[in-house]
Amino acid sequence: MAETLLSLSKVRAGYGNAMMLHDVALELPEHGSLALLGRNGVGKSTLLLTIMGYCNMRAGDVKWRGKDISRLPPHRRAREGIGWVAQEREIFPSLSVEENLTTTARPGSWDLDAIFKMFPRLKERRRNMGNQLSGGEQQMLAIARALMTNPSLLLLDEPLEGLAPVIVEELIHAIKQMLDSRQLAIVLVEQHTEIALELTEDALVLERGAVAYRGKSAQLREDRATLERLVGLRVATTA
Ligand SMILES: Nc1ncnc2c1ncn2[C@@H]1O[C@H](COP(=O)(O)OP(=O)(O)O)[C@@H](O)[C@H]1O
Ligand SMILES: [Mg+2]
Repeated sequence: MAETLLSLSKVRAGYGNAMMLHDVALELPEHGSLALLGRNGVGKSTLLLTIMGYCNMRAGDVKWRGKDISRLPPHRRAREGIGWVAQEREIFPSLSVEENLTTTARPGSWDLDAIFKMFPRLKERRRNMGNQLSGGEQQMLAIARALMTNPSLLLLDEPLEGLAPVIVEELIHAIKQMLDSRQLAIVLVEQHTEIALELTEDALVLERGAVAYRGKSAQLREDRATLERLVGLRVATTA
């Protein structure tokens, strides 16, 4: 059995006094992969923000390699090895692609060479400014920048949202490569349910801020009734 990398138990968290997550538990092994699914507004992004330390957590704990990190501020969690790509894909607009990648980089096997091999488009655009990139290129850059910090866990919030099919294919390929490298674990929030379940080992579905399903991704894929009930009909579409 792989060591547990991240575990949450009985987490109650939200914004100010408004609690959006209730009694949430999850466990992720080193190099594991988890699809985090559910309809709009159920708390997926909030859960990632809670793991990063941006939310107000009222109960429960977040453990990293067995150590309670519930009270660590976000930058300390990042330094521990948790990388996060926000749904808004924040990049530095007035820095070049290469500068975006190197400003927050930390030593490890993901360096410029490895990144440019994975995203040839970014190599072609290395001298372009962040604000000169297409939506797809910005998403690649946001993911690449997080990888350059050499995290042990990467939290991806709807990385495929609103992108052209050809870019979606490239990103799927990149995510597969990351997982195959066995160097990091991934939590993948996605509306493209089929893709998320294909990429990951485990799945967790939220409903109104609580865990409504947890199990193997392969199993959930076959369970159309549960998928339709908890995720909706978008499950019928594959990119
Ligand atoms: N910054 C915020 N302040 C207050 N409430 C928020 C904030 N962000 C999200 N929410 C609320 O938290 C709930 C969960 O939202 P979110 O985690 O973004 O859902 P999802 O990512 O699953 O679509 C929603 O009711 C949403 O309106
Ligand atoms: Mg969200």
